[in-house]
Amino acid sequence: MSLVPLHIQKLTAYKAGKPIDEVKREFGLTHVVKLASNENPLGLSDNVLKAVTKGLNESHRYPDTTGFELQSLLSERFRLKIKNVVLGAGSEGIMSNIMRTFLSDPDEIIAAENSFIGFKVLANASGIKTNWIPMKNYRYDLHAMVDAVNEHTKIIYLANPDNPTGTYFSIDEFDEFMEHIPQRVLVILDEAYFEYAQNIPNYPDSMHYRYDNVITLRTFSKVYGLAGFRVGYGFAHEDLIGNLLKVKLPFEPSVPAQIAAVAALNDSSYLEESIAMNIKGMKQLTDYLALSEIQFIPSVANFVSIVLQDAETATSITDTLLERGVIVRNLSGFGWPDCIRVTIGTENELDFFIEHFEKIRTNIKLGV
Ligand SMILES: Cc1ncc(COP(=O)(O)O)c(C=O)c1O
Repeated sequence: MSLVPLHIQKLTAYKAGKPIDEVKREFGLTHVVKLASNENPLGLSDNVLKAVTKGLNESHRYPDTTGFELQSLLSERFRLKIKNVVLGAGSEGIMSNIMRTFLSDPDEIIAAENSFIGFKVLANASGIKTNWIPMKNYRYDLHAMVDAVNEHTKIIYLANPDNPTGTYFSIDEFDEFMEHIPQRVLVILDEAYFEYAQNIPNYPDSMHYRYDNVITLRTFSKVYGLAGFRVGYGFAHEDLIGNLLKVKLPFEPSVPAQIAAVAALNDSSYLEESIAMNIKGMKQLTDYLALSEIQFIPSVANFVSIVLQDAETATSITDTLLERGVIVRNLSGFGWPDCIRVTIGTENELDFFIEHFEKIRTNIKLGV
């Protein structure tokens, strides 16, 4: 008899984008560009670096359990009460806490098939029945998700914008969706890429809503450039947050992560620079793709997914790019085997990608 429950035995470990050092070692390269994990290409801001270096002195102490300073700053910034804010080791850390807090048998989950793989891993590991709803035209099918609600539905997961498609649902679509969702169902609204999409006129910024059954998740991993620190935050009704705090690991996020996040929140010029750089880089990449008649999914986030003829081509391009020192994400694990996802990097990084992608696609006479 196995010690491991059946639903865990069936899982495969999460495979993240390859680290730069590993690719350098494996292929004997000195220059490697990573465009695989939607990280911020600007690197760590000086302000964060200074604050964290100074704050390391405090790391022999446990952190404040609720992260009061960061919690207060977030509540001021978004005009909420402190009781409405929760922190975690990345927004994925909070997602995990939500699952542990609110789900028990015979609850069920509804989520889009082929959306954020991190949620898929958590849902599968929970052992809770999940209804995976196919996407339509690389977008959430919110009508189908509403139709899938039954008396056991407890959690619905939505990422807006979505990863890996980069598409989003509009204010009207979200309003209509919420009209049909019972109060007893908790909606996780994952806004990891919110800052990139916030200026789109029909993008539903969850801060403009006050639903008691919606929890918004955001992160410092993307536009704030702190992916390696692992810090995310959630906003929700105080009853939800109160229950989450009962389950949350008491000392996440770590001391340096909390310090880094406070410094990042106070560094508006880094934020502006990151957003401006993303707009420029998005244009650079999509102009090239459009001009070359390569199919891609229009994205409002900091990455673009390219649609190739078939899975074989996608794998061959990913592998060949890797050998040449360009790490992109093959989306077979996400359920899009014919796609690769490219993070918006610096101008030079994107030039490097384009140079190599162009050579490879010409070699294999790709799609044109
Ligand atoms: C949609 C989505 N949600 C959450 C995350 C995870 O963010 P964090 O680093 O805060 O755990 C990601 C990271 O890629 C993401 O794409």
